[in-house]
Amino acid sequence: MNVLDFQACKERHEKIVMLTCYDYTSACIVQDSDVDVILVGDSAAMVMHGFATTIPADIEMMCRHIESVSRGTSNKFIVGDMPFLSFRQSRTDNMRAVASVMKAGAHAVKLEGIEGNAETIAHIVKSGVPVMGHLGLTPQSVNQLGGFKVQGRGEKAADMLRNEALACEQAGCFALVLECVPKDLAAEITQSLTIPTIGIGAGAHTDGQVLVMQDLLGLSSDFKPKFVRKYLDGKRLWQDAFNAYASDVKSGQFPAADESYKQ
Ligand code: KIV
Repeated sequence: MNVLDFQACKERHEKIVMLTCYDYTSACIVQDSDVDVILVGDSAAMVMHGFATTIPADIEMMCRHIESVSRGTSNKFIVGDMPFLSFRQSRTDNMRAVASVMKAGAHAVKLEGIEGNAETIAHIVKSGVPVMGHLGLTPQSVNQLGGFKVQGRGEKAADMLRNEALACEQAGCFALVLECVPKDLAAEITQSLTIPTIGIGAGAHTDGQVLVMQDLLGLSSDFKPKFVRKYLDGKRLWQDAFNAYASDVKSGQFPAADESYKQ
């Protein structure tokens, strides 16, 4: 997959499969899967570091995760998230942040919101770096949005989202994440754009889907948003394995003779 394939997928009506990934071991597994695109999202701040929001993510945190993922993959398209306010600085500092993410191993950057960002996005794109947009629930603006809530409900909010989506396309984004948007609105925006949309909590009629890996694997806490489908009961499986190990150690059954070195 490269940046041109996104457009080709939309034209061929082939769904784009994106998954978040933050570490080397998981990346090696994704590498051998049918997932098309890896997003090293700033959700790393929450699922890997235990923060309540994505706001504590910074360029250093993102770059360490992107480097780890990049070492585990060879043929997956990697999108690196631009963390909170990293693209709201001077042009020089914005571009320094973009350069860090790209040099860490990303093939494109993702940037939340369009309001006040259109020129920055256009400049990044003209500098040779593909930009994925992100609208709807933009978690970096959680304090402005008053919580993690569905966006684009009601005619005024829907109209705003339609305009913002078009502005992302006009600024040069090659694809657009729509997060927590009513499905009919997401479908309408998807129809109206020439670039592909990738939904999370945006219904089935976007050009692709993205999920957070830990949610899909059932490793996240008991909080489960409506849009998450658990493909594995990972938490239970991990706990079963940990408990079996603890039990074997306590009962003296681990390690066995063939798991020990001879003289
Ligand atoms: O950071 C992230 O994981 C994301 C996805 C939820 C789209 O931005």
